Amino acid sequence: MIRCVDIYKSFADKLVLSGINFDIQSGEIFGLLGPSGAGKTTLIKILTGQLPFESGYAFTLGKNVGDLSGEDKRNIGIMMDEFGVYERFSCIENLKIFADIYGVAHVKIKDTLEIVGLGDAVKVKAKNLSKGMRTRLQLARVFLHSPKIIFLDEPTSGLDPQTMKSIHRIILDKKKSGATIFLTTHNMEEAAALCDTVALLNEGVIVEKGSPKEICRKYNHQKKIELHLSSGEDVLLPHGKESAGEIYKLFEAESVETIHSSEPNLETVFLELTGRKLQEDA
Ligand SMILES: Nc1ncnc2c1ncn2[C@@H]1O[C@H](COP(=O)(O)OP(=O)(O)OP(=O)(O)O)[C@@H](O)[C@H]1O
Ligand SMILES: [Mg+2]
Repeated sequence: MIRCVDIYKSFADKLVLSGINFDIQSGEIFGLLGPSGAGKTTLIKILTGQLPFESGYAFTLGKNVGDLSGEDKRNIGIMMDEFGVYERFSCIENLKIFADIYGVAHVKIKDTLEIVGLGDAVKVKAKNLSKGMRTRLQLARVFLHSPKIIFLDEPTSGLDPQTMKSIHRIILDKKKSGATIFLTTHNMEEAAALCDTVALLNEGVIVEKGSPKEICRKYNHQKKIELHLSSGEDVLLPHGKESAGEIYKLFEAESVETIHSSEPNLETVFLELTGRKLQEDA
């Protein structure tokens, strides 16, 4: 559905994307994970035909982005900051504007607002929406014309954990209905919870890509088992048969409260590969 082949992009003298390569299959959720300034929004703009680039190839819906027709663009949904919300209009009025642009029947508007959890706020003006409700309205606008590919640029940034989870459910439902989703985030938990594939982007270079679990397994250098005991003690054992006896004894004594293998998370992998954190406060 989406393919990047050796994409390079600079702004003035500054190289912002440096040889980007990946493929995204139909029906998957692909996450571009990277810190602020990594080049995530720039890549979305390239893949949606909004920004020229110096070299390489970008394909969306299987077509060179330079050759996307109006009909192709109808099959692409884009949610970016400050994009497509008319402040003085209510939720329903906002969607009517886009329904008319895309030739979508007005009966679909209320259903779409229900899907994103704005069923009780159809008449609320956009300027009076909370941050979470505004995100829901932006999603409704993107979903309205049922695009095949949906680009979401940091769809949950600044949201509280509960609203974030609810937005995740909406995105996962969209995947179930067959859409291909490209999202950007600097939240590694979000990437791990939602994405079939992630690419870790640092200063315009993809430093690793794969399924979140595969990546974490690959960088599991320690290969340890962590046990937390009811006494409060933490025990770290090698991940191998030499630990079987010790683990058996602890379980027999009913002293194990939790047991985990010690794979790193995406944040730790990113730090190992780049020396940088994904989020300032992480
Ligand atoms: N129009 C522009 N002109 C000049 N430089 C730009 C322009 N757009 C982006 N840049 C630069 O390109 C780099 C990548 O920006 P981009 O917005 O793609 O990052 P990002 O990963 O989306 O960051 P964030 O997480 O903060 O949204 C940054 O250094 C930014 O300053
Ligand atoms: Mg950005």
